[in-house]
Amino acid sequence: MAITKMKGTYDCLPETTAKWNKLETVFRHVCKLYNFKEIRTPIFESTELYHRSVGDTSDMVSKETYDFKDRGDRMNTLRPEGTAGVARCYIENKLYANQSVEKLYYMGPMFRYERPQAGRTRQFSQMGVEAIGSLSPLMDAEVIALAVTVIKGLGLKGVKVRINSIGDEESRKNYKEALVNYFSNFKEELCYDCQQRLEKNPLRILDCKVDSKKEFFTNCPKIGDYLNEESKNHFNQVLEALEKMNIEYTITPNLVRGLDYYTHTVFEIEADIEGFGAQNVLGGGGRYNNLIKELGGPETGCVGMAFGMDRLLLAMASENVDNVKETPLHCFIIALGDKARLETQRLLNEMRFGGLICDCDYRGASIKGQFKQADKNNAIFTAILGDQELDSFTINVKNNETDNQETISINDLYSYICNYVASKNNSHCQGCNKKGE
Ligand code: HAM
Repeated sequence: MAITKMKGTYDCLPETTAKWNKLETVFRHVCKLYNFKEIRTPIFESTELYHRSVGDTSDMVSKETYDFKDRGDRMNTLRPEGTAGVARCYIENKLYANQSVEKLYYMGPMFRYERPQAGRTRQFSQMGVEAIGSLSPLMDAEVIALAVTVIKGLGLKGVKVRINSIGDEESRKNYKEALVNYFSNFKEELCYDCQQRLEKNPLRILDCKVDSKKEFFTNCPKIGDYLNEESKNHFNQVLEALEKMNIEYTITPNLVRGLDYYTHTVFEIEADIEGFGAQNVLGGGGRYNNLIKELGGPETGCVGMAFGMDRLLLAMASENVDNVKETPLHCFIIALGDKARLETQRLLNEMRFGGLICDCDYRGASIKGQFKQADKNNAIFTAILGDQELDSFTINVKNNETDNQETISINDLYSYICNYVASKNNSHCQGCNKKGE
């Protein structure tokens, strides 16, 4: 029996890969504009890292991680998110010694053992940024601005920024007490998980998908009423900076996010597209001022966010902005006969060195079959090389865009194609950088 992919994973075929590349290109470009630099951290880390960062009581760590013991009896976890690994890397490589704000970005696969549905898989990809080393509320605003610029760069329109502050420790301590007092009155009505959360981590009750729909939820205490002066100031400055940059946002009082490391600002980028489905949070993030210290580093202000790339692609498909034009082949050479086939190989190699995209048949197809392949690859030129042409060192070239056909010297094929491509672009040939004649 054939082996199939594991539940919650997917294959990315070439047609889809082109869309992923577009996503990555836009993200890299925007990160460059905001002066974020790429960082690559391991796909697995010690299990302890996630327990100490994302938090033991978070759903992610308590229910969703892929944990395994390696042959040396160490506990490993496939990364469920990127922030903890970047924080560990920052400390281990003593990046704090630079005495600057480290503005870092990353892309790659993450793993969570969740119930798969549209927009939720067990292996998925994130692209995220972390700004480590600043307490400034302007940094929070910059990270949100970067996220909005990515959304704009992708051409997405139906997207909203939801924002809230969960304050500093003091504010949260008071708020947690108020939540426990309030929800204790409804203990029997809370779901099993929330009954546990009431004791261990009452803030988590706020993102319960089950309980948040119940009537008693509407009147629960709001964090905004428990923020101390410093927390209020920080939040107001973030909002002021967003307004200055003309970034629209909605304050969402129950937004707390599902990870334990957040302090002050939290936000989510939500798809507001009709019929998009339940998994409409395209990205999220916030400030996490305690994480670096808790992991053994110095006290460091941090803020970051991550997009779910799979969800961004779904949103792009919903808004019909996911069309990617594949680069056509510059030339497909049809070879007739063994000698011609060998000469084709030489020609192809030379043209590729010169920057042209070209190919030929490798399955011994008939001339008709080879024409079909040229067509399928959207080749601008089809060149035909048979024994007769080889004897006179010529090649027959057909321009598939103009239908013009002529026989030229084999030695001229490369410049013949470059000239056409350059004159068509009215500039340089993208492959060889030759200027049109
Ligand atoms: P998160 O909200 O857990 O935050 O994940 C970020 C995004 O990843 C989500 O908004 C969603 O789009 C996507 N995502 C999460 N789980 C799945 C899944 N199972 N399938 C598909 N997409 C998914 C974080 O991970 C934080 N590290 C973000 C951050 C960076 N905070 C500060 N810095």
